[in-house]
Amino acid sequence: MKGLTEAQEKRIQELLNEMTLEEKIGQMNLKSMSIVGGFDVPFEELIEMMADGRITAEEFGRLMSTAEQDYHEDDIRAGKVGALMVDDPVKGNELQKIAVEETRLGIPLLFGLDVIHGYRTVFPIAIAEAGSFEPALFEKTASMAARESRSRGINWHFAPMIDVARDARWGRVSEGPGEDPYLVSTFARHKIRGLQNDHSAPDSYIAACLKHYVAYGACESGRDYNTTGMARSLLHNAYLPPFQAAVEEGAMSAMASFNDLNGIPCTVNSFTLREMLKETFGLEGFVVSDANGIKECVNHGIAEDEADAGVQAAKAGLDMDMGTDIYSKYLAEKVESGEVSMEVIDEAVKRILGVKMWLGLFDRPYVTEEAMSRYEVLPQEHLDIALEAGKKSIVLLKNENDILPLKKDTKVSLVGTLAGSKDEVVGAWSISWRKDDCVSILDGMENAGANFEYYPCGGPEGDLNEEEIEKAIAGGDVIVAVVGELVSMSGEASSRADITLPGRQKELLTKLLASGKPVVAVFMNGRPLALEWENENLPVLVEAWHLGVQMGNAVASVLYGDTNPSGRLASTFPKVTGQCPIYYNHPNTGRPGSKSKFTSRYLDAGFEPLYPFGYGLSYTTYEYSNMQVEETDTQVIASVDVENTGKAAGDETVQLYMRDVTASIVRPVKELKGFAKVTLNPGEKKTVAISLDKANMGFFDDDRNYRLESGKFQIFLGANSRDCQMTEMNIQF
Ligand code: BGC
Repeated sequence: MKGLTEAQEKRIQELLNEMTLEEKIGQMNLKSMSIVGGFDVPFEELIEMMADGRITAEEFGRLMSTAEQDYHEDDIRAGKVGALMVDDPVKGNELQKIAVEETRLGIPLLFGLDVIHGYRTVFPIAIAEAGSFEPALFEKTASMAARESRSRGINWHFAPMIDVARDARWGRVSEGPGEDPYLVSTFARHKIRGLQNDHSAPDSYIAACLKHYVAYGACESGRDYNTTGMARSLLHNAYLPPFQAAVEEGAMSAMASFNDLNGIPCTVNSFTLREMLKETFGLEGFVVSDANGIKECVNHGIAEDEADAGVQAAKAGLDMDMGTDIYSKYLAEKVESGEVSMEVIDEAVKRILGVKMWLGLFDRPYVTEEAMSRYEVLPQEHLDIALEAGKKSIVLLKNENDILPLKKDTKVSLVGTLAGSKDEVVGAWSISWRKDDCVSILDGMENAGANFEYYPCGGPEGDLNEEEIEKAIAGGDVIVAVVGELVSMSGEASSRADITLPGRQKELLTKLLASGKPVVAVFMNGRPLALEWENENLPVLVEAWHLGVQMGNAVASVLYGDTNPSGRLASTFPKVTGQCPIYYNHPNTGRPGSKSKFTSRYLDAGFEPLYPFGYGLSYTTYEYSNMQVEETDTQVIASVDVENTGKAAGDETVQLYMRDVTASIVRPVKELKGFAKVTLNPGEKKTVAISLDKANMGFFDDDRNYRLESGKFQIFLGANSRDCQMTEMNIQF
């Protein structure tokens, strides 16, 4: 394994030679603590209860702190556990001590956790952060999350989530970097660097876990856990590339997804796991199932019973079982009966031990007291990056009559329960956050010294408060209405069949608009929403997502013009839910959508989205001119002059797309192939050049051949996937 010395490899081999079959299988077992006594619900259900709002995060925390928990000490002592999910360094050290000092071979435990967009310093959710189009930022936020979590004993993140996701109904679009394979792959590479590459201190890196492998983002009808079916070519061209990119960067593990892919659940899919991930891409670390994934193969109807599911999973190359104990219960007898070979077990264990060795756990299994309290006070640098990431993720969707930026002395009515909530800034998959760290939009407005009054009026759930609405209308000269989704409305198991504003928020906006005063809508949400009505009726729309602990400061900074917004959409926004899935890089049809009837369109929604991928406005304007394309033996280099024609300095993200006009299979109408961010002062003009390696202009066919087909190509440069300049050229490979 890369990164291991010869001595370390030798030590792994020696351990393997010494281990009993039971000890080996123990390494293949990941357990989470369970709650015992006083509760009728298992831990998993408690998490679900928190996720769907039956209990609050605080109630969950209280329960967890008082409940009796089973940390499986006896199983650890017996060598039956290889990894644990425990977010508590003191307890973690105790359990590690059992593994290191009381088991026969003293193999340390891995501690895994969902650290998806920050540990204690919560950063923007991935769909938002991806819209910054800033690889250096992807890396920095990951590196900070790695340091913070490792200081608390977490050495393995169930991240990055790099599912290409094209259906906004799917709640988990919030967790990933959007719909485009190139942007998702860029995000994946830089997340791996940030999480894994800083070895300047023994605890400044963790092992990443790529998820959800694979095609989980293509679940049918956007319903979570649903089946996926797709042509092999699409799998290879769109869904696998981010995983390949991340493995090339040295990602240490991957998680098999819940879904079946073309009829085979990814948990037992030897083509995706063994042939592609391990043999073709070269993953050196291990693969873990998703929670209960092995057991669910019985529900899929692909395994007769749990034992059969375990056999199929192990044989397919699934190295670690998350949460079912199926490997512990059945694998030994299946090895003895010859159904599973010892090579399969040895391969899995070698990979798992390799990752533990790479993490330095054999030398430093424990968290020091100094480390545990290192981030008790969050470092200014972390807060600064959280703020920077927040600002760069905000997307200005519409700004009629330059209503934004607001002047500090403008009298503002701030409306919406979301604006006053610290709990709602963090986004799905925040586990180790603290409320005190969170800056709500209300707090942010106060910190900015804004001239405003707050009237909650209503939110994603519940009734409207008419009295407050009247006061809000009478109070300010401008109304800032914060509307959107609760955190619990996106993320896992949070698909929605209607992605318009939930609850009575549209009614709230209608009432505010009736005042005749300018209404600025600020959206807090975890997925693209269908905002056709809002776009038609409101003068200003700001997409602020769930931005993490610094959300309020980031939003205030944009509203008052201290920051010129530069964020872009990493996902297409539909006009109406019925357009989903909608994404810019779709294959062309024989009847491309147009205004005429017999084309690929909806009678009631046309064929275009509301906002295209890559879209985002600014407080200034940019003009693109003089597009040039040059060809060398190995590259196409496209350039364009970009001029800041407005009054504010700003950052513009220039995007390069291509289209293979005629090919042996139908290709997307556009594919992102590069981007560059430039800073321009008012009146300043720069030439921006982006190069594209010819080797990357091909595609996979259904037989997994990578084809570079000479012929006509279109090269586009522009501010988003819709508004581009285009040059057509012939390319010979
Ligand atoms: C999710 C994963 C997550 C795992 C462990 C599953 O339900 O699908 O994304 O990493 O739980 O918490």
